[in-house]
Parts: sequence; structure tokens; C-alpha cells
Amino acid sequence: MAHELLKGKRGIITGALNDQSIAWKVAEEAHAEGAAFVLTNAPVAMRMGEIKKLADATGAEVVPADATNDTDLDALFALAQEKLGGRIDFILHSIGMSPNVRKGRPYDDLNYDWYKQTLDVSAMSLHRMLQAARRSDALAEGGSILALTYIAAQRVFPDYGDMADAKALLESITRSWGYRLGRERRVRVNTVSQSPTITTAGSGIKGFDGFFGFAEAMSPLGNAPAVDCARYCIALFSDLTRYVTMQNLYHDGGFSTTGVTPEVMAKFTG
Ligand SMILES: NC(=O)c1ccc[n+]([C@@H]2O[C@H](COP(=O)([O-])OP(=O)(O)OC[C@H]3O[C@@H](n4cnc5c(N)ncnc54)[C@H](O)[C@@H]3O)[C@@H](O)[C@H]2O)c1
Repeated sequence: MAHELLKGKRGIITGALNDQSIAWKVAEEAHAEGAAFVLTNAPVAMRMGEIKKLADATGAEVVPADATNDTDLDALFALAQEKLGGRIDFILHSIGMSPNVRKGRPYDDLNYDWYKQTLDVSAMSLHRMLQAARRSDALAEGGSILALTYIAAQRVFPDYGDMADAKALLESITRSWGYRLGRERRVRVNTVSQSPTITTAGSGIKGFDGFFGFAEAMSPLGNAPAVDCARYCIALFSDLTRYVTMQNLYHDGGFSTTGVTPEVMAKFTG
């Protein structure tokens, strides 16, 4: 399938925890398309050791960085440019975590310290990354930045809890930075709104199996697999999409614009 779409491009890929992670698939596809990149994740995630396998398979360097820590992010951009030999053409933000969701606190009984953590890890981290990138003048002209999001930013999915607010903030940060970086350096900033996907973060949502099945039945093309999400990301990192910016782009098999399907109707008709 490779077309050298990212030949000569340098990137930073966050969030590859294990081979189910969407970021893991993006790294594999980016490698197949000729990119050179640095893999990064929170130091605590590194201890699990999985990322080393991906680094070996893709010829990537690993730089630990907590995406809520500005010092770590400054070091990440400095090291990435040093290891890759120039400015960064693409960044994947694939980071999400809510202590409230993890610990089963519903939206009407949030722990506010955890709520702040949810917003910081899952949304402000994108702002921090881009501010750090700009501080070290690390972004290449015409680059592309993507963050992964979910439709709970637009529609209510009760068990998605405070992550819905984090995704709404993430999408707003995308537009605000997209405006600035577009004018400054023709850098695009977009979010990809992905179908429910079986990963560590995805499966952590209460009732995940239910809404995975519901989305499958509600999508004319079915739920989009992680590898296809990765391929969409590659297209958006490539020069084929140089005028797409400040958008929330659904990669969901048609879920977001489907009203009902026979499969769902069948549950309500005799
Ligand atoms: N799985 C789904 O159903 C689904 C659907 C739509 C969007 N998404 C989004 O896709 C992205 C990737 O999630 P995934 O499903 O691949 O799950 P995942 O659990 O594999 O990835 C989440 C990553 O976030 C990282 N992370 C958490 N805290 C961090 C921190 N402080 N600093 C740096 N990294 C940190 C984790 O280590 C992990 O690698 C998330 O933004 C998620 O919300 C997932």
C-alpha cells in the first residue's frame, strides 16, 4: 500500500501504548510511507516496555515526555529536532485520560481535581505541545498537526463523562492554533473524530461494548478500524491535503450523519 506519501518528512507521534493504540498503527503506516519520527509517551507508560518493540520495527527514537509538563515538552522538541536533523513536519496528538471515567465517577458527581487532570492531559496538552514547539521554533513550513477526538464533543454520550468536555476543548484549541500557525507558517491543525475503537483508553469507558455495537449498527460502513484511522492520518500529514485546516474531520463510517438504520429499527419493531 505504500506510496512514499511522507518521504523526507519528520514527525513526532505521541500515545503508542501497545499494539492496539491508534498511535501505534499511525507509526507503522508513517514508517511504511517513508517518514522518520520520534515516538513519545508519558514516562509511566514507558515502563510497560511495549514501545521499544515499535521503535525497533520503525527505526524510531523514543523520547519520554509527560504531555502536561512544559519542561518535558521543551526537551522533546529539542531532542526530536536533533535526532531527526531538522524541523518537524507532522505531529500526532493521541493522548486521552480521565481519572473520573477510570474511577467510575459520573458526570453529576465529578471530583474536580480529577476533572482538571482530565482537561490538562486530554486537551491542554495539545496547547502545551504547540506552545513548546513554537518556543523552540520547531515547526516546519507547511506542516500538519492532528489530534484524535470523539463525537461526544458534539452529542451527549452519558458514560463518556468529563472526557466530552475535554474533547470539546481539544477541538477548540485546534481551531485557535490552526488560525495562528496557518498564518505564520502554513501549518495545518485538525482533529480526526474516530469511531469507537477497542484500545486501552476506549475500553476504559463504562458500557464501551454497548456503544461499540450501537455505533457499528448505526454506521453504513461499520466502525472504522484503527488501521484505517491511521491511513486517514497519513493522508492528512501528506502534501495531498495542504489546504485542510481548523477542521473536525469525522472518520466514523458515516455514523455522525446517520439518523437510523434497519438494524437499530429492528430493536423497536415487532
Ligand atoms: N478508542 C476509542 O474508541 C477512541 C475513539 C475516538 C478517539 N479516541 C482518542 O484516540 C486517542 C488515543 O487513544 P487510544 O484509543 O489509542 O488509546 P491508548 O490508551 O492506546 O492511548 C492513549 C495514550 O495516552 C497516553 N497518555 C496518557 N496520559 C499521558 C500524559 N500525561 N502524557 C503523555 N501521554 C499520555 C497513554 O500513555 C496512551 O498511550 C485519545 O485521544 C482517545 O481519546 C479513541
